[in-house]
Amino acid sequence: MKIKQRIKEIKPIKLYLKGKHLEKNPTYIAGKTYLEDRYINLGLTKGEDELKKIPTRTQILNYLLQQLDRECNYLEIGVRFPEDNYNHIEAKNKFSVDPGIENAENPVDFKMTSDVFFDSIANGNILQKDIKFDVIFIDGLHLAHQVDKDIRNSLEYIKDDGFIVMHDCNPPTEWHARETFAFSLSPANVSWNGTTWKAFYKWRCKKEVFSCCIDSDWGVGIISKTQDLGKNTMASNPFFEFHEFNANRKDALNLISFNDLKQLLKK
Ligand SMILES: C[S@@+](CC[C@H](N)C(=O)[O-])C[C@H]1O[C@@H](n2cnc3c(N)ncnc32)[C@H](O)[C@@H]1O
Repeated sequence: MKIKQRIKEIKPIKLYLKGKHLEKNPTYIAGKTYLEDRYINLGLTKGEDELKKIPTRTQILNYLLQQLDRECNYLEIGVRFPEDNYNHIEAKNKFSVDPGIENAENPVDFKMTSDVFFDSIANGNILQKDIKFDVIFIDGLHLAHQVDKDIRNSLEYIKDDGFIVMHDCNPPTEWHARETFAFSLSPANVSWNGTTWKAFYKWRCKKEVFSCCIDSDWGVGIISKTQDLGKNTMASNPFFEFHEFNANRKDALNLISFNDLKQLLKK
């Protein structure tokens, strides 16, 4: 008995036994199966299928800017590598904000957090106090409390018919929706949507704004003060639990296609 126990304590054997346990864990299997179905059977590596969905966030942002049919002010919160999105945005005046956490070069206009950026406008230290944006893209810190704050601040600085857009509102699994990015030893690997969905869902419950989420590129949420993008959700999830959200995600997010959005904006 003692020998058996000692053998189990030998590091490679201990790791093997842990791994064996994980392989049998129903929660792990559920996530792995989900990802295998979606990604591996498509011959893709993890995360690629969501990225291959059309349209991309860039196409959606450019479409919204086009709809406004004027010289637009575009603001992007969280840029990282401008070549991934920012450089492809077609707007007369573009403004970028990023504290430079994920790209040391950080080639943006305002090297600061979104909180400092909005405070600096309010204090008259940057831009004009009364500046209004046509489209604001929120893609900074992907934690619900910060996204919620970014939405609240953006509502102060968005034009009445403008759009607040946010990335990563439709996490495919609980692992993608984890709070801590570094916990990437899971079926989601390094793909991370954070808890953005919670902030978007919170605003989906409010009657004072219209909102929808395009089912592409990890879920592109859109909020408008005046343009009817859909009614608020009645899906109840008072504790913001992932499984509740998953069961009602279509209604919770007002998950629609890009074509649906085009129809809505035609009205
Ligand atoms: C997911 S990347 C942005 C990707 C980019 N918008 C795109 O479409 O390719 C997130 C960025 O947000 C930045 N960030 C983190 N915390 C932030 C904060 N509090 N305010 C603004 N940006 C933040 C990070 O430095 C990082 O560059």
